[in-house]
Amino acid sequence: MQFMANFKCNHTAHSVQAYFAQFNNYRFSSDFLGQHEIVFFPPALALQAAVDHAQFEIGAQNAYPTRSGAYTGEIGLEALESLHIRTILLGHSERRTLLGESQEFIAEKFQYFARHGFRVVYCIGEPLSVREQGESAVQAYLRAQFDGVMESMEEILGSSGHNPARVSVAYEPIWAIGTGVSASVADIASTHAFLRTLTCAPLLYGGSVNAINAREILSLPNVNGVLVGSAALDPKSFYDITQAGAN
Ligand code: PGA
Repeated sequence: MQFMANFKCNHTAHSVQAYFAQFNNYRFSSDFLGQHEIVFFPPALALQAAVDHAQFEIGAQNAYPTRSGAYTGEIGLEALESLHIRTILLGHSERRTLLGESQEFIAEKFQYFARHGFRVVYCIGEPLSVREQGESAVQAYLRAQFDGVMESMEEILGSSGHNPARVSVAYEPIWAIGTGVSASVADIASTHAFLRTLTCAPLLYGGSVNAINAREILSLPNVNGVLVGSAALDPKSFYDITQAGAN
């Protein structure tokens, strides 16, 4: 299983240090570490602190598809490489909606970072208005979120899909993010079954995952991990999710 924590615009360099002082102390058996993965996406200003203090993989929540240059407010490949960061989250619904990132721009980022050897965690998900139109509307919406991305993704995965450590797809229905109410297991199961027809990449579910619902969600077929926001902000709560999923 893949357990991924998205801190969003939460935590600072200082609080991330305290977070890992606690999280690093939790005991993960070598069996667990052999079978499961834990990845953290702290905010940009806490990346250095996370790299310095975490004993786990660290990824960026966003970056601009450039090595460096005149892109005010952005971070580029050079900055990430200087921290030895090789993992990036792309396509999150908050960047699509709040920051206005188009599918075309997200695809450009995907291709750029994939080309530069990054592991990409690619987020997709429909708004409530689409979910209310039924399953075929959801499927059409999600399919369109692979425009410009699918080819690059398949290239990374290789013809036999044997490179699952390089790309994951996180299904995060927008109406379940940060609401405290996850999608139903029936909705997650049917959507992941559909996504499995599109790709052999590991499929994560995200949207109000917590230590209580994680076990059931992670037991569903075609669910290979979770992407956790709110419930990952506290180290004990995120640790509990990893244990719920592992047992
Ligand atoms: P949430 O966020 O767990 O707070 O719903 C998940 C996400 O947006 O990645």
